[in-house]
Amino acid sequence: MGAMEHPIPKNVPALLPIVKYGDPVLVKKAKPVAAIDDAVLRLIPAMFNTMYAEPGIGLAAPQVGISVRVMVVDVASDGKSQPLALINPRIDAHKGQIKSEEGCLSFPGIQVTVPRWAWVKVSAINEKGLPVTIEAEGLLSRCLQHEMDHLDGVVMIDRLSLPQRVKALWEIRKRKKAGLW
Ligand code: NI
Repeated sequence: MGAMEHPIPKNVPALLPIVKYGDPVLVKKAKPVAAIDDAVLRLIPAMFNTMYAEPGIGLAAPQVGISVRVMVVDVASDGKSQPLALINPRIDAHKGQIKSEEGCLSFPGIQVTVPRWAWVKVSAINEKGLPVTIEAEGLLSRCLQHEMDHLDGVVMIDRLSLPQRVKALWEIRKRKKAGLW
């Protein structure tokens, strides 16, 4: 990619294809967003559409093959939709540790138990270019950490112990052989 080329393609379809584990974009550190331009404003609704269609509760831009620091989340707590679009997010503070099951749209059919911070304080900018701060625990905390990892090229199985990781990789191999990947 040339230096002047925008990291987000001009034509972003309304539904984006999900990239699965094995694609190099998922292990690459994504680029910060320099400006909330038209490309970013087209990408965010397409990412929400894609996430809801799967369905999923979080999606990071590298999962649709676009290596920029944009993520969308909606854990719909209390049955109410709570869409969050976060640009250039970072963890400002964290507390405690908790292990729980998680899955990932880029790992279809795979569930692993991942240790995460129990509570996080995340700051980012939203789609309006305004700074936002979120304090989260439970599912939202887990989801934010999972999606932020994607922006650093870290996937959930990278957080596992070696034997657990080997087991997950073996499951993935089985699924690939069965044509389920
Ligand atoms: Ni994921």
